Amino acid sequence: MWASNTNNGSSLHNHNNMKNYIEANKERFLAELLDLLRIPSISADSKYKDDVRKAAEFIADKIQSAGADFVEICETAGYPIVFGQKIIDKSLPTVLVYGHYDVQPADPLNLWDSPPFEPVVKDGKIYARGACDDKGQVYMHIKAFETMMATNALPCNVKFMIEGEEEVGSDNLGTFVKANKERLTADVILISDTAIIANDIPSIDVGLRGLSYLEVEVTGSNRDLHSGVYGGAVANPINVLSKMIASLHDENNHITIPTFYDDVVELTPAQREAMAQTPFDLEAYKKDLAIDDVRGEAGYSTLERASIRPTLDVNGIWGGYIGEGAKTVLPSKASAKISMRLVPNQQSDKITELFTKHFQAIAPAGVTVTVRPHHGGEPYVTPTDSKEYKAAEKAMEESFGKKPVPTRGGGSIPIVALFEKELGLKTVLMGFGLDSDAIHSPNEHYGLFNFYKGIETIPLFFKYYAES
Ligand code: BES
Ligand code: MN
Ligand code: MN
Repeated sequence: MWASNTNNGSSLHNHNNMKNYIEANKERFLAELLDLLRIPSISADSKYKDDVRKAAEFIADKIQSAGADFVEICETAGYPIVFGQKIIDKSLPTVLVYGHYDVQPADPLNLWDSPPFEPVVKDGKIYARGACDDKGQVYMHIKAFETMMATNALPCNVKFMIEGEEEVGSDNLGTFVKANKERLTADVILISDTAIIANDIPSIDVGLRGLSYLEVEVTGSNRDLHSGVYGGAVANPINVLSKMIASLHDENNHITIPTFYDDVVELTPAQREAMAQTPFDLEAYKKDLAIDDVRGEAGYSTLERASIRPTLDVNGIWGGYIGEGAKTVLPSKASAKISMRLVPNQQSDKITELFTKHFQAIAPAGVTVTVRPHHGGEPYVTPTDSKEYKAAEKAMEESFGKKPVPTRGGGSIPIVALFEKELGLKTVLMGFGLDSDAIHSPNEHYGLFNFYKGIETIPLFFKYYAES
């Protein structure tokens, strides 16, 4: 009785039913999302461990009440994974929806205009940590599912896998996926955790970068020293670390680690030409960030630098005295957190090893260097000639009234490459955020337009995918 209507008249009828259902329930959808946003589910900070669990329970509960026939909060060695499904007919395709209910830490708190876990709706946008990344986008899927169920319009099977450790590297998801292959059987993975170019320029992310994240520590003397008594005669770990880090890029902003670029797949001239056609407003980009110029690898455009080229960045650096006033001290230690974004066919483990060897090799006498790998992930590219891409394209074209542009994104969702490896499944990244939504930053927000547009578009993806 749930089978899709392939006849155009009824499917239009279904679409209108769904639109009416969304319209009639939009205030409640929003109110529920705000409740979810009130839970400070920061996976990086163990202080919030009860809240992270609460978010999992909230998600499980909502998937259940939307109409799932099975929901389970699956324990892992870390935070649980919420699994849910609605199987209407085993012979129909199955869409596996992945997302995350954990969020990034909210600091620096003083830069928020309103508290990060007390969501407010202002100028058509929801302000809260996680509003866009990824609670707002996960919630669109739950409400789209509810809408399809309530209007008898679910055209295929659906499974949900919503995790709580994405922002800390998805350490336990790999184990879960390997141990639950049967349960995760599907035909395609659908994720909303990326962005579109603009509300009037829909786009679909067809690439994610990989990641190698590590922490380095430079140690000099066995204790902090008086900077007058010892300064100039003993290595200062902060000076040394700064110089080592500075040497990792040359004057053209190329990364200097030997063989770092060996596995990088260069785009063909035709691909670069196509990319140059992607709508991009450099002036608006600079204005949004309040910078007077962009800066990056010579020979590449801003869009290329932020998507198809690998990078190396310091994410944090510390050591010595940073309290009020001045303390004259040569620190014993200095540290930094470094991320490298990777592109096809670079491999995270290999790059981590290259970095480690190189960083040890450039350490001067008088200090010791340790490198500690954190998490990593592999890059991913979605083929645009696939039926899943085409279904997403049709769905967005219908809801936005404009054909979406394929774009290569710069962020990472490490699990996507693993899904392909372990489950043999392709992923469609049908995200609805904007780069200006300030994800991971103070005042993160998500447009109401984007939230509702997502809820409207997702059922269309299901419909076109099931029909294809
Ligand atoms: N949703 C983002 C990834 C993203 C953002 C992809 C924008 C494309 C466009 C995700 O939650 C994220 O932040 N991932 C981390 C990876 C991780 C291992 C911590 C990232 O990219 O830093
Ligand atoms: Mn995310
Ligand atoms: Mn994120």
